[in-house]
Amino acid sequence: MTEAPTARKKGLFIRTYGCQMNVYDSERMADVLRPLGYAPASTPDDADMVIVNTCHIREKASEKVFSELGRLRDLKTQKRQAGDDLVIAVAGCVAQAEGAEIMRRQPAVDIVVGPQAYHRLPEMVARAARAAASRRPGTMKGAGVLDTEFPIEPKFDHLPAPTTVSGGSAFVSAQEGCDKFCTFCVVPYTRGAEYSRPAAAVIAEARGLVAAGAREITLLGQNVNAWHGAAPDGSTWTLARLIAALAEIEGLARIRYTTSHPRDMDAALIAAHRDVPALMPYLHLPVQSGADRVLEAMNRGHGRDHYLRLVDQLRAARPDMALSTDIIVGFPGETDSDFDDTMRLVREVGFAAAFSFKYSARPGTPAAMMARQVPEAVRDARLQALQALLGEQQRRFNATLVGHTVPVLFQESGRKPGQLLGKSPWLQSVHADGDARLLGQIVDVRIVAAHAVSLSGEIVVGDFASTRTAAAKPIEVAA
Ligand code: 5AD
Ligand code: SF4
Repeated sequence: MTEAPTARKKGLFIRTYGCQMNVYDSERMADVLRPLGYAPASTPDDADMVIVNTCHIREKASEKVFSELGRLRDLKTQKRQAGDDLVIAVAGCVAQAEGAEIMRRQPAVDIVVGPQAYHRLPEMVARAARAAASRRPGTMKGAGVLDTEFPIEPKFDHLPAPTTVSGGSAFVSAQEGCDKFCTFCVVPYTRGAEYSRPAAAVIAEARGLVAAGAREITLLGQNVNAWHGAAPDGSTWTLARLIAALAEIEGLARIRYTTSHPRDMDAALIAAHRDVPALMPYLHLPVQSGADRVLEAMNRGHGRDHYLRLVDQLRAARPDMALSTDIIVGFPGETDSDFDDTMRLVREVGFAAAFSFKYSARPGTPAAMMARQVPEAVRDARLQALQALLGEQQRRFNATLVGHTVPVLFQESGRKPGQLLGKSPWLQSVHADGDARLLGQIVDVRIVAAHAVSLSGEIVVGDFASTRTAAAKPIEVAA
């Protein structure tokens, strides 16, 4: 599609909440609206259209949406008084789960679009514009266009291929949706059933991004390691085979994938961490709890031992493997002894990073109806204890890097002038002083200091072109 030469440039501001899938989707929405004349605006004030791409995973994330929409309604009022307008769209999982409620609670909203309907945004924008043209003067009501259908055909076939890369790193969606139905989680309801994109589509998108400057590709999916896509030869591949195919793309130095489920961590994928040098030695593998009773009640489909075995196998395959995880405390019925099991598992594994959450009852999920909800004060205390341990592990892990030279992919400018910010193979943020021309490149950096969630380093002069992970020594993970 080419842009009509007469199309007036319009500003588009997208506010993204939640996971990397939403970050990817926001970029796809910008791509699909570009032919309509929409270009990125840096603030809502400068925009003709604002999209709030929402997250429904925990209560706090959902509630933010309504306060943000209140602010946007006020902005819309100001703009209309000045003879201008603002199209307000709500996308993402809150849109999917509570579309009609959003329209009712915030009438200034023009468009509600679910995660499987983004390719129909241009049509929705046109309908919203028509509704605005026939609006009574003085009313603040939005256009009320809602699309939360799950299409029969996957949206990917209708979305333009991404073409812009910033900082040498890009996401490629490989898989979407979830059939696991963990009893606490809204994703199977908001994102729909598991779907794997065909291998050829993923590889073609990755090739395009590498040609546009990506040195690193992160494959995305709610259950990315459950990916099983149609292969070019007519067979069905699993993720390990897809990674091997991506590793053949010339110029692609780093491959990552997220998020994975312990049940789908097969032997081939573990072996890929040994055999594919471009596959980074870092894995985000949510465990959620260290207690078998709780894992069972969560419907995770595996026990504590299965997770610990996977960790052993991953470390046997790749000794410098760094692991991160997600943990929920205060799941209904979680006892002190169950929580102790979680703390023991964390001590046993030694995580390089982690996300930990207080259980949040989500409407419509089985766990929300379970008896023995854990009191808020107990959930708070457990979260504090867990975060203290995880923070300590992260600091210890970061400290193991001091004095080592590691390859860093510089992705953006740092906060201080002349400073660059990048990522180590183990996904740590690394700051170093350097020329902005190094953005998007992998550069050897000697680590001089470790902090709670980042590292500081000095660029090793004369070795700017290095792309080898092997340059770094294996790191011992603090237990
Ligand atoms: N309450 C708390 N945390 C949750 N997560 C998902 N649903 C809930 C919930 N209802 C967490 C899980 C998941 C991460 C993305 O969010 O740990 O892995
Ligand atoms: Fe949610 Fe469980 Fe699916 Fe992850 S695997 S998206 S936690 S239902």
